[in-house]
Amino acid sequence: MCGIIGRVGTDEAIDSLLTGLENLEYRGYDSAGVAIQNGAGIKVQKRSGKVDELKSALEDTTTLEGEVGIGHTRWSTHGPPTDENAHPHTDSTRDVAVVHNGIIENYGDLKGQLEAAGHEFTSDTDTEVIPHLMQRYLDAGFDSERAFRAAIDQLEGSYAVAAMVAGEHVLYAARQGSPLVVGLDDDGFFLASDVPAFLEYTDDVVYLEDGDVVVVEPDRITFTDATGDRIDRTPETVEWDPEQAGKGAYDHYMHKEIHEQPTALTQALEGRVNSERGEISLESVPAAAFEGVDRVQFIACGTSYHASLYGSIAMNRVGIPTSAHLANEYGTSAPPADDRTLVIAVTQSGETADTLSAMRHAREQGARLLTVTNVVGSTATRRADDVLLIRAGPEIGVAATKTFSSQAAMLVLLARRLASDFEGASSMSTTRETGGGREDLETLIDDLQGLPRAMQSILESDAAERLAEQYLDARSYFFIGRGLGYPVALEGALKFKEITYEHAEGFAAGELKHGPLALVTSETPVVAVFTGDADGKVCNNAEEAQTRGAPLIAVCPANHRATEIADAHLEIPAIHPALAGLLANVQLQLLSYQAAAKLGRPIDKPRNLAKSVTVE
Ligand code: G6P
Repeated sequence: MCGIIGRVGTDEAIDSLLTGLENLEYRGYDSAGVAIQNGAGIKVQKRSGKVDELKSALEDTTTLEGEVGIGHTRWSTHGPPTDENAHPHTDSTRDVAVVHNGIIENYGDLKGQLEAAGHEFTSDTDTEVIPHLMQRYLDAGFDSERAFRAAIDQLEGSYAVAAMVAGEHVLYAARQGSPLVVGLDDDGFFLASDVPAFLEYTDDVVYLEDGDVVVVEPDRITFTDATGDRIDRTPETVEWDPEQAGKGAYDHYMHKEIHEQPTALTQALEGRVNSERGEISLESVPAAAFEGVDRVQFIACGTSYHASLYGSIAMNRVGIPTSAHLANEYGTSAPPADDRTLVIAVTQSGETADTLSAMRHAREQGARLLTVTNVVGSTATRRADDVLLIRAGPEIGVAATKTFSSQAAMLVLLARRLASDFEGASSMSTTRETGGGREDLETLIDDLQGLPRAMQSILESDAAERLAEQYLDARSYFFIGRGLGYPVALEGALKFKEITYEHAEGFAAGELKHGPLALVTSETPVVAVFTGDADGKVCNNAEEAQTRGAPLIAVCPANHRATEIADAHLEIPAIHPALAGLLANVQLQLLSYQAAAKLGRPIDKPRNLAKSVTVE
């Protein structure tokens, strides 16, 4: 959802700005631009399209010499993706240049006032009001820092903004509601929407808080609050390395990230499951941490919502009354919450505006807040009372893959861990199917430890690739499942449609007959997910579709009865039923990836989407 980058140092800025933009492209790729300044004033280059197009336009980067610069990669909100609407934006005199991520809600009023005062605008964006506001204050005799602060004070909405003024070796930046992080290296400082932007240069970072304003010079950085009072912000070292954030030998980040799942899961589980003692321990959720809580509500969007549905089923199965909600619906249709409600915000990025807004709503109701996230220092971690990190490493592909697996696995652990805090919960059923009891816990722990290996065996198979080829001409794809297979079916369909651009839908297997069956023909393969939850009924529902001509693809272990009826089979190793869905999901990820690759789609950057959606 727009990426911003800034550099102030003693070296030329252009290379690190372009690298930063490439690393931030997952946040948007409608247009890209840079502004650099040296003694001769501010120079701006911007283009609609991806960063590569900007780079071609910049063949001779020596025209952009200078040690201070800002850059932006855009996901359009106000105004189409044209050259004019690309950032950076300047004032009429080109003395001020600004990049912005977020939405200025009162930009219409501000623009009206500025136009009435003679300011001429050249774009449709909300952002352009910022350089014009600064210009107005500079013209009134304010120094640059005061002009920046005065401009920021006028803004309503969300922003991470970086600005520079011609003739100065300084960047001004502020954060309110959109992420902004500072990187510190030997030659100066970076500002960016996210750490991977500058990870090749430094891993020492400071995460800014809402209300922070920073003044960055080559040899020092000053942190202040909104009123201008100095504040302390301590640098921390991030553990991601640049190699992890790069594509390595893979053609696409998505493919790399699918293959990273065994490692990601090993990292997620490390120190959290102990097979000798048969225990699950989560460092941030000690025993009795949630005593007194009597229900759980999940809030999340997209793939994280599907992981939440998975988690809510796991919680209900150990006796914890739980519901899962789309974060963007939570404010309008949430069930009651109070101080006995634990609200769990599941968000890979920790920056999704819908989820942050739902967290705010939950807080107002007095709920306890836990976030399950991948990003240390993200806004969600600061809004929550407690944080459970999924430790998946950086995920760049817009389509979430490894983070779904790590989220869902963590939620299965969390369900078991929380059961003991909920009166009556752990004494629930002891059967393997329903997922409670001591013996079952031991099996689950053993199988959790075998999960990375089981996933690896799927990654080594080419069955999904062959099936993708076989059904490439299909008209529509349906994914069905029951119980834990249902969120996996939803996730399988989401992944398929977002990267192949082919129509795909996920359904509860039992719902197929209540409407969708009307669409089933020989051109609509039905992918049935078998996780051990009412498999017999899933078989019946799958056969109902098959009888009407649909090719049936069964995702299940070898020797499963579904293999006898299915037209094609994607095999998963036999495993504890709480984990079978995670294995089935990997087969579905591979199916989507291979179909999209064969169709020649831009897999890592599907049209109209962004990885981190920081607007509601
Ligand atoms: C965007 C991404 C999805 C992601 C969703 C939620 O829509 O394209 O892949 O699942 O945001 O993101 P989060 O960071 O909150 O998990």
